[in-house]
Amino acid sequence: PASYEFIETSEPRPGVGQITLNRPKALNALSTPLITELNTALLSFDRSPTIRTILLTGSQKAFAAGADIKEMAPLTFSEAYTTSFIESWSSLTTAIKKPIIAAVSGHALGGGCELALMCDILYCTETANFGQPEIKLGTIPGAGGSQRLSRAVGKSRAMELVLTGKGFSGREAYEWGVAARCFGSWEELMEGSLKTAETIAGYSKVAVMAGKEVVNKSQDLGIRDGVEFERRVFHSLFGSEDQKIGMKAFAEKKKAEWTDK
Ligand code: CAA
Repeated sequence: PASYEFIETSEPRPGVGQITLNRPKALNALSTPLITELNTALLSFDRSPTIRTILLTGSQKAFAAGADIKEMAPLTFSEAYTTSFIESWSSLTTAIKKPIIAAVSGHALGGGCELALMCDILYCTETANFGQPEIKLGTIPGAGGSQRLSRAVGKSRAMELVLTGKGFSGREAYEWGVAARCFGSWEELMEGSLKTAETIAGYSKVAVMAGKEVVNKSQDLGIRDGVEFERRVFHSLFGSEDQKIGMKAFAEKKKAEWTDK
């Protein structure tokens, strides 16, 4: 296995690749070297023949306290613009075809909140501390927070969060639909996240990737184009072996043995 400085990788359950952000002294602040390692680990899990679902987490205290403020402080416009600062964070959403579950405990602020929002499924503890506090630093979210939060919680609430920098709890994240589930403790969060990851890992890889693709398209397309796109992908799955296997197993009351073909 690769060795990293700011993250850890493991395979805690069959088919589940876990990435743990591990920069405890800075509450997992997302420096460029950390993001580079994260992208490397994600791509390697995406290419791995054994990994089928990815779990991204931090520590009990902090998922991530944002982009690295000390790294950003001296940046100039021309440096940020010409190096496309922060753009590499998006490879999480554009390059990775396997589902990514975020398990969020503690602080998920600024870029940490945005990173969690980029994942395919978000789970958190009730006491997780989400927020976009960039306004307090004289700036605004830069990794999609204003766009993804607006879609998740509506414009008015997103505006309030972005303009006041006020945080929201994991419980609120769940009630607002930002998080799919919230848990009473870190242990329950990790167990629940691993269970879901394992469940997904047990399905056909082709169908899972297609499911991820069509749901994510809903965030970009209008309803008419989105439904049409979904139907096209649905039609294409009749070309997979696993569709035949799954439906035959149903008729024969047997467990499907997926081939990923
Ligand atoms: N960047 C760099 N270092 C950070 C950091 C960050 N985002 N967040 C925390 N740290 C560092 C602190 O500087 C501190 O380091 P030192 O021990 O060397 O002083 C260490 O982590 C521990 O932090 P605190 O002592 O502040 O811990 P706390 O428990 O008292 O407070 C906190 C926790 C409320 C999360 C507080 O650290 C905090 O407010 N952090 C900044 C949150 C923030 O503003 N995030 C948005 C960043 S901007 C952004 O993300 C832009 C974007 O959209 C991409």
